Formats: sequence, C-alpha cells, structure tokens
Amino acid sequence: AVYPFLATLLAYLIGSLSFAVLVSRVMGLSDPRTYGSNNPGATNVLRSGNKAAAVLTLLLDAFKGWLPVVAVKWWGEAWGLGDGTVALVGLAAFLGHLYPVFFGFKGGKGVATAAGVILAFNPWLGLASLATWLIIAVFFRYSSLASIVTAVFAPFFFLLGSGSVWDAPRALVVSLALMGLFLVWRHAENINRLIAGKESKLGSKKS
Ligand code: G3P
Repeated sequence: AVYPFLATLLAYLIGSLSFAVLVSRVMGLSDPRTYGSNNPGATNVLRSGNKAAAVLTLLLDAFKGWLPVVAVKWWGEAWGLGDGTVALVGLAAFLGHLYPVFFGFKGGKGVATAAGVILAFNPWLGLASLATWLIIAVFFRYSSLASIVTAVFAPFFFLLGSGSVWDAPRALVVSLALMGLFLVWRHAENINRLIAGKESKLGSKKS
C-alpha cells in the first residue's frame, strides 16, 4: 500500500504550489493575499488588473489538479493503482491548494484546481461543469456564485452521466462530493457578501 500513499503525498505537494502567489511574484505584482479578497486565486489576481497573470494562475492551478489524476489513470495500473487512488490523488491536490504546506497552510478556495481534477476524472463532466460556470459567470458576473453553483451540480452531473447511481465509480463520487463541500465552505465570506449585495463583480479592480 506504499504506492497509493506516495501518489497521494506527491499530489498534495503539487497542489501546495500556490500559483497565484508564485505567478504574481515572478511577474513583479503585489501578493494577492494583500488586496481584494486576500485570496490566492485567479479571480483575485484579476483584481490586480493584470489579465495575463490571472489566466496563467487559472491554467497552472488547474494543471496541478489535472496532472496527478491523469498520471495515475494513464500509468497507475502498472503500479497496482485503481479508481480509489485516482479519487484520492484528485482530492489530495485539491486539499494541497486549500492547505498548502509551502505557504503556512493558508491557501485558496480550490475552484481552478477542482476544475482540473474534474476534467481529468471525466472530460464530459469537466465540460459540463465548465459550461455551468461560464453561464452563471456571464449572466451574474460573480465568480464566487458561479463556483458555488458548479460545485453543487458537479456530483449530480457525474451521477447522471454514469447512467445509474449504482454504476458510478463510488470513490470518484465521494471525492467530488467532498471537494464540493470544502469548496462551498471556503466561500463562506463570499456567500455573506453575495447576500449583503457586497460581492465584487468579475473583473472589477481592487479598491
Ligand atoms: O475562484 C475563487 C472565487 O470563487 C472567489 O474568489 O477572490 O472573489 O474570493 P474571490
């Protein structure tokens, strides 16, 4: 049982790379933990006004979720790794982003990383989730609202796409549901701001 453990540990370490902080540092921008929502994520980096930095953060944070999952899916069999490890490494990369060992365990909300994990779990699920996020984001202009709604829908999309509830790989469903719960919980402040009508709209600059 050493390989599943090693794979999970490695995924957690990759997930711990907070690309909002790293990209901002490399590009000479302020630390995203010091302005806007103080969240190290692509949405907040966008508030710096630098779109390229935000897109790069989004892509790299998603990539670090995608990579460990596809690595186990593609090469895991030779090491005796199955669906359980696929589910576990996805969750570990996601939790690395939320609680990064390299950044005092103070990380982000996990939206981009979850997107990468979901896309690797199942491309159709990834596309359905991406479409959901985009529709809400374009319509309401709140990144947080789009993320929360998508997180709630994703496990159900997966169950629907699997034909019947009983056919869905149990470990992946649990992993998706756990990610959704953590993600919504990490948006507690956003939810309060949304209810109070004080949430900042997508793309509005830091004040
Ligand atoms: O992707 C994170 C987003 O849902 C909220 O980010 O910076 O507005 O708290 P932020």
